[in-house]
Amino acid sequence: MKVAPSLLSADFANLERDVRMVNRSEASLLHLDVMDGVFVPNISFGFPVIESIKNISEKPLDVHLMIVEPQKFVSQVRDCGAEYMNVHYETCQHLHRTVQQIRSAGMKAAVTLNPATPVEVLRDIVADLDMVLLMSVNPGFGGQTFIEQTLDKTRRLRNLIMEAGAKALIEIDGGVNLSTGKSLAEAGADILVAGSFVFSSADPILTIKQLSNL
Ligand code: DX5
Ligand code: ZN
Repeated sequence: MKVAPSLLSADFANLERDVRMVNRSEASLLHLDVMDGVFVPNISFGFPVIESIKNISEKPLDVHLMIVEPQKFVSQVRDCGAEYMNVHYETCQHLHRTVQQIRSAGMKAAVTLNPATPVEVLRDIVADLDMVLLMSVNPGFGGQTFIEQTLDKTRRLRNLIMEAGAKALIEIDGGVNLSTGKSLAEAGADILVAGSFVFSSADPILTIKQLSNL
């Protein structure tokens, strides 16, 4: 299992220390949550912070944009060194165009679905995606409880990807711990985002290792 620790739950007064911890771990990606206070009821951090993180992270950056009109920021996200530009389906009126723009900018394209958005809306675009992120909590905050319905949704997404002959990875975000992570692994997830479970643990490097062994 690939693991993407979410920096949202890090100690923002010690970001460098926490990014370097992730560098030393078995994490596959570093997950960065950008919020605008409009699409979601919270504000986190923005591009200048990610630009600084880029200089110290040895893990590829997975930039999860919980913002309206993400297509306006393709070049800024690219300049932040993002490997994945992750946009919400619910914020993109012309999703196909946005995915094309992300790929033309040299990034991998990922699309995120809120808990109430069915996976079937991606049927005609899934072959053009590098990753689909299913929110297993409502976006905006760390430390929320996993929504069990995500397990069935993960299985349906796995089938949809297979039927389309697509290669998109399945990433899950919200309420991930060893128990929900094990169920998600069985349901067909490829990447687990974990914020509070990693950063509030006594030994985050060990916790990342335990998740990656699922
Ligand atoms: C929530 C963010 C998540 C968040 C997950 O809107 O997208 O990435 O950090 O936090 P946990 O793992 O604590 O649920
Ligand atoms: Zn996220």
